[in-house]
Amino acid sequence: MSEAKTNIILNEYYKDNKILFNKGEGDKIFFKNKAYIDLSNCAGSLILGHNSHVFKKSLKLYLNKKISIFAHPNIHAINFSKNIKKYFPNFSKIIFCNSGAEAVMKSLRLSKSLNRKNLIVNVTGSWHGSVDKLLFYPNKNLKPQTLSDGLSLDDKKKLIYIPYNDIEKSNKILNKFKNDINCIIIEPIQACLPLDNVKKYLHFLERFCKKNNSTLIFDEIITGIRIRPGSIQRKYNINADITTIGKILGGGLPIGVIGISEKINKIIKKKKIKIFFGGTFSGNSLSSFVGNETLKFLLKNKVLFSNLNKKSLYFQKNLNQFITKEGIEAKVYRFDSILRIVFSSKTIKNKTQREFLEKKKNFNIIRFRQYLLDHNIYYPSNGIIFLSNSTSYKNIDYVLNHIKIALNLFIS
Ligand SMILES: Cc1ncc(COP(=O)(O)O)c(C=O)c1O
Repeated sequence: MSEAKTNIILNEYYKDNKILFNKGEGDKIFFKNKAYIDLSNCAGSLILGHNSHVFKKSLKLYLNKKISIFAHPNIHAINFSKNIKKYFPNFSKIIFCNSGAEAVMKSLRLSKSLNRKNLIVNVTGSWHGSVDKLLFYPNKNLKPQTLSDGLSLDDKKKLIYIPYNDIEKSNKILNKFKNDINCIIIEPIQACLPLDNVKKYLHFLERFCKKNNSTLIFDEIITGIRIRPGSIQRKYNINADITTIGKILGGGLPIGVIGISEKINKIIKKKKIKIFFGGTFSGNSLSSFVGNETLKFLLKNKVLFSNLNKKSLYFQKNLNQFITKEGIEAKVYRFDSILRIVFSSKTIKNKTQREFLEKKKNFNIIRFRQYLLDHNIYYPSNGIIFLSNSTSYKNIDYVLNHIKIALNLFIS
């Protein structure tokens, strides 16, 4: 194929970048009045779908009550924190932030204030947002490589990677550096490959941190509210020292929260540690009010979580049956309501393996996405599928039919 032809096709395939969505309702998003079934739901933030009745009602209430915002502590953040504590009884203290990345950044600052140890341990495949200290990825030898210009070489030197879900290799690395490890930060269930066999690995990290006086930071920005009975920690009976949550918690508005355990709070008090956490919009009453109304609704309607899990299971089972029958090189992975299609049928242990196996198919994966877009389905570029409570089974069937056609056309 000539270069010119290739360029034209690539432009076509990337044309979704030119799509600028202007509104959303239920399970659909719109561009120039054309509706697309949304498989992202704002990267997993909208568990109730677009412009849900809870979102609209809470905005109306906010306006009717003339609440406004204040660069000073407000009653709405206090009310919100009380409900967050109902969800997370292990949080001794709560810090409000405006995004997941901010919560992660401030968690690292907090952890650094606890002891003089220098190293941050990150786990391959974990994503923590736009945080300078963590904007790296591991190469084949697990050495950090920059993901962006403008990062500090010093941060790079202080970052160690351990392989996700590999106790033996992680143990070796952790033991080598054990005296210098300030913290281990992990996205416990990784949206880039939502595996359901990592409980042992997470307990192993918990034991290591306890034994070696390192901080365990669970980045539950996605899983924090999504997973029943309330985060991965509760599901697996693990006590993280610091937890970050976000996305669903804001009810559709920007949010990030740091939850500090009793153990860490005691150290802060004992050592009289002073950490700067403030910001103009930290704990602002708009995100707090809407987030709190959403959380109250979710607490009252826990069945929503099992309904969403059932829907996601339907999606996974239906597609995997088809994939097996047709012998297609793909497999759908799922943890509760976090879904991902991996374009390989091999058993995969972590993101590095996934990327290696998918590498040859990247061009066809773009064509796969483009086909879906041409058929009014928004398939997120990061490949993480989040259905919402407003995604109808009828639309799931429509999506599944087109995914099957696209798999046959581009992936098999
Ligand atoms: C696990 C995890 N941590 C942190 C972040 C960053 O959150 P935000 O995009 O709100 O800054 C994300 C965002 O996708 C995430 O998935």
